[in-house]
Amino acid sequence: MENNEIAYKEELCPKITMFKIYVPELVKKANAGQFIILRAYDHSERIPMSIGHLEREKGLLTVVVMEVGMSTAEIVRMEVGEKFQDVVGPLGVPTHVNKYGTCVVIGGGVGIPPINPIARALKAEGNKVIGIIGARNKDLVILEDLLKEATDDLVVTTDDGSYGMKGFVTDALQKLIDDGEKIDFVMAIGPVIMMKNVSKLTEKYDIETWVSLNPIMVDGTGMCGGCRVTIGGETKFACVDGPDFDGHKVDFDELTQRQRMYLPQEKKAYDDYLEHCRIGLKK
Ligand SMILES: Cc1cc2nc3c(=O)[nH]c(=O)nc-3n(C[C@H](O)[C@H](O)[C@H](O)COP(=O)(O)OP(=O)(O)OC[C@H]3O[C@@H](n4cnc5c(N)ncnc54)[C@H](O)[C@@H]3O)c2cc1C
Ligand code: FES
Repeated sequence: MENNEIAYKEELCPKITMFKIYVPELVKKANAGQFIILRAYDHSERIPMSIGHLEREKGLLTVVVMEVGMSTAEIVRMEVGEKFQDVVGPLGVPTHVNKYGTCVVIGGGVGIPPINPIARALKAEGNKVIGIIGARNKDLVILEDLLKEATDDLVVTTDDGSYGMKGFVTDALQKLIDDGEKIDFVMAIGPVIMMKNVSKLTEKYDIETWVSLNPIMVDGTGMCGGCRVTIGGETKFACVDGPDFDGHKVDFDELTQRQRMYLPQEKKAYDDYLEHCRIGLKK
């Protein structure tokens, strides 16, 4: 198998695809909480993706891609045996893994894959690890078995109650607190609104909480300034200072606003790409 080659591909649910990529050198160095930058073809945009499951002996890295626009659409159309133009990384600072006591790891949507290696690292450090994974409905619950294996206890929530506990991940977290679970550390990865609400809840109970931010990134090496975020009133670059930050200090409203900055351009690029696919021009 060649470097950057796709060894395995599976559609986990509509619009969410899992890839295992053969990148032995990268996998040797990668740690939970870091990310990579992918480029499908030589003309393609650089796309940041979180590091998911690591199979170090096989040299395989799992990434889970949600199709939201042109570049992610291009990636999910790649097939086993094809090679990514480049896979850069590992980038960013690994998640701080300490002996905290009881940890809750929370994942929503494509935030579920990166909490898997974090849960495993926390467990290896001797912590009790409770997982909470949330999705809009049953069909969108992904990687449940992998997360069950990685945690001591796993709660699944769906917004519509079609599977697991009805409600948001924050409802499951509130229930754990109400049931008297003494939580020492929370790690949450998912949509900005989810990370914001988890942080608001844990702030009330003074529980240390970290989140993994996903601002728009370009170079991923601290040079372009595209990934600026405000943390405790200070400007930080998510690619080199993060992507993990103290959730109680993040300016989530600014992050939401900055993520929406190029929406009209992104929509046009996606629509044009889908139209090209429809008439048979894939790349
Ligand atoms: C550290 C990090 C880890 C990530 N991990 C994953 C992952 O594991 N799986 C996954 O599916 N997605 C992940 N993302 C998000 C992914 O990079 C974006 O969804 C992707 O860049 C969108 O590209 P697009 O051209 O398909 O969509 P676009 O049409 O460009 O945008 C669609 C939406 O994605 C947001 N977006 C656009 N470009 C970026 C960018 N460079 N960085 C972040 N958001 C962007 C926009 O605000 C917009 O709302 C991660 C982002 C970061 C920063
Ligand atoms: S992505 Fe350019 S500075 Fe972070």
